[in-house]
Amino acid sequence: MFGLGAYATRMRAHDMHAMPKMGGGSALCKHMVADQPNVPRLLDPTQLKPFVDPLPLPPVLRTDGNILHVDMRETEQRLHRDLPLTRVWTYGGCMPGPTIEAESGKELRINWRNALPSKHFLPIDHRIHGAEKDKPEVRAVVHVHGACVPTASDGYPEDWYVPGQSRLHTYPNKQDAAGLWYHDHAMGINRLNIYAGMFGSLILRNEHERSLGLPQGEQEIPLTLSDRLLTTDAQLYYPVSGNSEAPWVSEIFGNAMLVNGALLPYLDVQPRRYRFRVLNASNARFFNLKLRDGRPFQQIGSDQGLLAAPAMLHSLFISPGERADIVVDFSAWAGQQIEWINDALPIMQFRIGSTRVKDASVVPPVLRDVPRMAESAATRQRMLTLDSYQDCVAEPMLMLLDGKRWHEPVTEKPVLGSTEIWNLINLTDDSHPIHLHLVRFQILDRRPFDQGMWTDSKTVRYTGPAQSPSAGEAGWKDVVQAWPGMITRIIVRFDGYVGRYAWHCHLLEHEANEMMRPFEVVSA
Ligand code: C2O
Ligand code: CU
Repeated sequence: MFGLGAYATRMRAHDMHAMPKMGGGSALCKHMVADQPNVPRLLDPTQLKPFVDPLPLPPVLRTDGNILHVDMRETEQRLHRDLPLTRVWTYGGCMPGPTIEAESGKELRINWRNALPSKHFLPIDHRIHGAEKDKPEVRAVVHVHGACVPTASDGYPEDWYVPGQSRLHTYPNKQDAAGLWYHDHAMGINRLNIYAGMFGSLILRNEHERSLGLPQGEQEIPLTLSDRLLTTDAQLYYPVSGNSEAPWVSEIFGNAMLVNGALLPYLDVQPRRYRFRVLNASNARFFNLKLRDGRPFQQIGSDQGLLAAPAMLHSLFISPGERADIVVDFSAWAGQQIEWINDALPIMQFRIGSTRVKDASVVPPVLRDVPRMAESAATRQRMLTLDSYQDCVAEPMLMLLDGKRWHEPVTEKPVLGSTEIWNLINLTDDSHPIHLHLVRFQILDRRPFDQGMWTDSKTVRYTGPAQSPSAGEAGWKDVVQAWPGMITRIIVRFDGYVGRYAWHCHLLEHEANEMMRPFEVVSA
């Protein structure tokens, strides 16, 4: 083991909306500076005609108690009318995969079959933990993000399996209605599998939510966002470092913003309310969504279901892994066209019909009871750092949780049913969306602190007041944006099941190297 401290350097700040950025800051390590990678000619999506393709809606899969069968397989998909077909890896033959609809409280069984080819088409880095040369090239395992599920069905990163094999996962769904999602989690390569197209939505519903009268049916639309880089012949390009032995890069940003797998689509809507289930399935891009002209909309839910009350928004800042349930009322804009923009760039268009319709849907002022968890309920506090390291000898860069790698002994062992406060001490210049499997939690606050003092003496000195979570973050969460320069506190009750789970940064390149740790729920 090399001395991490000696080479520790903070990751350079990054512009979250910047166009492709290759690799991390390697300025300190001259001999590590990679050759310029051979970048193929890339597509400039601003040259495409916008809003010529209707927004694709993934097929819906429901079950009447039988086992659902979903195949992982390669296919070709058209991302825009004027582009040739793109090779993608999918669940069920489309990217995003089918939207799985299930009922809270009713067990769901899914047989996930790996029917992928035996060669990967994106650049594997064999120096990444879990992706060594002795491992099969193509491996997969499905994790339902946000599911409270026994560990055997959770999609533990090391539980991957190869083409030709399947796994039957059982989801008890003993949890509230929420917009969950499923994606690959195979150790060391899931950033590539997800980039290739392996993600989809899983919507849990319940009676309470149906009783509210929210927009539903054709007025409830999934919006899954993901950014990609495409070559001029429309093939996925995954950036590399230039060192063919170590192609991993620390973050990737595409200039092609896909909505439900389409580039610059449009959606015909009526002048009435619509409910959009927004999911950011990108590897690393945060989206800052606005309606053109800054028109307001409402957020009614977050990662783990409805908020207590709707929140009025003018923009939605959503990190990889997060979900937002929003309602847009188009009734005042009959006959107009409005774009969703990500900062200044349009990503899709709504065409609002001019014929008035009667809208019986409502957004009630009270959505459900979300009791705030009392800090006094916590029996344990943990101080957990988010670090990045640069090492000139062993590898280009490494990001860690609490200074530990994945394979080191488990240090977080909460007792089943107990409540803990986790202090996420961000020592980097990046925002990291931190996700815990199995549980839901609440955000207590974010507070600026003296990083130098922490590094020197492991003591916390706050340098400003604590900031409460925004209204849209004040419900039940399973991802929290841990901002740079801040200690972000979450309060978690470890309900559900005993066993081993993962927690990690949802920037997939960070997760791979090696911003992911196991935790183990133990019985009392
Ligand atoms: Cu969205 Cu460990 O996952
Ligand atoms: Cu991160």
